Amino acid sequence: MLPRPPLCCTLCFLITLPSFAQSLSVDERVTGLLKQMTLEEKIGQLSQLFMFGPPGPVEEAVTQGRVGSLLFVTDPKVINHLQHVAVEKTRLHIPLIFGFDVIHGFRTIFPVPIAMAASWDPDVATRAQSVAASEAGSVGINWAFAPMLDIARDPRWGRIVEGAGEDPYLGSAMAAAQVRGFQGNSIGAPGHILSCMKHFAGYGAAEGGRDYDASYISETQLRNVYLPPFHAAVEAGFGSAMSAYMDLNDVPATGNRWLLRDVLREEWNFKGFVVSDADAVKSLKVHGYAKNLADAAVLALNAGVDMEMAIGKTAFSEGVADAVKAGQVTLDQIEAADRRILEAKIRLGLFEHPYVDEARSQQILNAAEHRTEALGAAERSAVLLRNEGGLLPLQKGAYKKVAVIGPLADSQLDTIGPWAFQQDLPETITVLAGLRRKFGTGVELNYAQGAQISRKFPSFFDDITHFKPQPAWTPETAREEMEKAVALAKKSDLAILVLGEAQNMAGEAASRESLDLSGQQQQLLEAVVATGKPVVLILINGRPLNIIWASQHVPAILEAWYPGTQGGNAVANLVAGDAVPGGKLPISWPRNVGQIPINYAHNTTQAPENQGKRYWDEESTPLYPFGFGLSYSKFVFSNLKLNAAEIHPDQSVEVTADVENTGSVPADEVAQVYIHQQYGSTSRPVRELKGFQRINVQPNEKKTVRFSLGKRELTYWSTAKREWVEEPSTFDVWLGGDSQAALDSTFRVVP
Ligand code: NOJ
Repeated sequence: MLPRPPLCCTLCFLITLPSFAQSLSVDERVTGLLKQMTLEEKIGQLSQLFMFGPPGPVEEAVTQGRVGSLLFVTDPKVINHLQHVAVEKTRLHIPLIFGFDVIHGFRTIFPVPIAMAASWDPDVATRAQSVAASEAGSVGINWAFAPMLDIARDPRWGRIVEGAGEDPYLGSAMAAAQVRGFQGNSIGAPGHILSCMKHFAGYGAAEGGRDYDASYISETQLRNVYLPPFHAAVEAGFGSAMSAYMDLNDVPATGNRWLLRDVLREEWNFKGFVVSDADAVKSLKVHGYAKNLADAAVLALNAGVDMEMAIGKTAFSEGVADAVKAGQVTLDQIEAADRRILEAKIRLGLFEHPYVDEARSQQILNAAEHRTEALGAAERSAVLLRNEGGLLPLQKGAYKKVAVIGPLADSQLDTIGPWAFQQDLPETITVLAGLRRKFGTGVELNYAQGAQISRKFPSFFDDITHFKPQPAWTPETAREEMEKAVALAKKSDLAILVLGEAQNMAGEAASRESLDLSGQQQQLLEAVVATGKPVVLILINGRPLNIIWASQHVPAILEAWYPGTQGGNAVANLVAGDAVPGGKLPISWPRNVGQIPINYAHNTTQAPENQGKRYWDEESTPLYPFGFGLSYSKFVFSNLKLNAAEIHPDQSVEVTADVENTGSVPADEVAQVYIHQQYGSTSRPVRELKGFQRINVQPNEKKTVRFSLGKRELTYWSTAKREWVEEPSTFDVWLGGDSQAALDSTFRVVP
């Protein structure tokens, strides 16, 4: 469908004509549009509004050219209708760009991002986000507010589930992988959409793990840990960025000129546009940073925000016109912001193809191959934490009666996890359903809920996530339900417990002060283990939890995370041995909440070997280290070789080692290489990940893995020198299957 503008605006009409427009460069097209736009229209393009409920109120704003983008519209009919208004009823016929939180799938839900990171397979993330882009794009969504690239080292923070964990190297690999998935080879690639790296920057370091609270991050930590995934994303071609909510070192990220201009634009040469987080511009007033709304708009624009995301109305629409008149913001600045947004719209092809094919979207949303991808992703994301006596995979025919117990065993919504709104809930396979399908009539499977879990304070997402609160059990019912579950375990040959966190216990505004299994899950677990029956614990959750007791008393523990639409099938395949766990932890797993933050890449300081000098009541090591995960097979690393003992800056050393599968099943291992700079202008972390490869190895097969360590891997931000340095020093190298790898060597960098 072609826009039909009034003839009075000939140039503008020509610009919207595909044949004419295509003869112009993107730049020329934008310039042509800017020449005709009034100040109000220019400010309109910088405004993005939420649409909850019927289109009425936002439709009026669209008609008046006061909006450049909408978010939270997912019905293709409504999208087409609103686009029609923008394209045909506004003076300049500029299409809207529709954004949405496409975090780990749209209709087909993939494992949550922390789980995808646990696959240590960037391809998993690329394929998942490519499916998500095609599904979201099919209904008319042009822009995903993902991925979240915030490094998070505090599992109390609920949003740890949305990122790749604690490590900048793994985080950077996952960032680049996701841009390929969302955007394809370039912005506007067919079947793909624009993506948005968020939350720039430092959100993951919220004090106390409390969502939205301020972050205090030294420049060393920012540059070496928190910023690298964003920088990698910019290098990979991300089209947009979202500014974060919180204060970073006392300057709100959304009004932070250093972050948004000096680093993002000047140092990294970022060409995309910056959108604020929801209401983050207006919130500059709440932070005690802006005097009023108009001031907030000026501060944000001057800092480098191009588009304001807001509920109701934007501060930009309130304050920017007057600010231009008062000389607080220049027209050039506004046009520069418009230019970046219009460029994105042109590159996405929105002027040529503003509408979506409603009939085709159903076909895409229902594609069977998307479910197959989701199944594979869930299998590859699971991490086997414990497997005493090789309880898993379950020996075929050994268990005739199996008890499946726990509040998450048969809950579709919880299997999917947070940040999913458009999923096909009835098709979601819970663990119970997956086990039933897998074992058919060969095994008698019985289910008992056993415990109930809920938040102390409700989540503001509950209204939009199809969450239906259940009436709370009375103490008496709780006791009876637990007794039923224990009785069921007693008359079974094996109990599979599915415990963890409900979907609204992780994600935004879902932080916790404790990591204990909530509700009566711990009591339930202990009571079932006390029956003496073999127990498998499946964890459904978005963060490390306190499983110290389980780690000593439950023979098999499988971390399934929130595994998504196909989660139950994936867990069943893993439990049955039709898939072999190969995932690894993207975060150090603390023994208890008091150890937080605990990350493997800490500095070594006074008396490192003396545990008692750290805490006298607990080890200062994690329960499970970063990079850890078991398999149904066994791997031996050997023959670590470096092709040089000494290199000059700018040169690389090649590292090789053999990985042998000494077990009896084909399986995946993740070879990980870590380094440590022994001395230099600042102290360096005890270990830092600098390469990884997930490989499949047959029993008795030996594969050689290769890594290169050069300038990119050895350079870091020296706080002492206040610059990026590659220093002459001696470097330790370790290679193995987790961050405690023992196989080691050294090399030197000499001037
Ligand atoms: C607030 C969240 O912080 C952000 O991640 C999300 O994309 C926006 N809301 C839009 O829903």
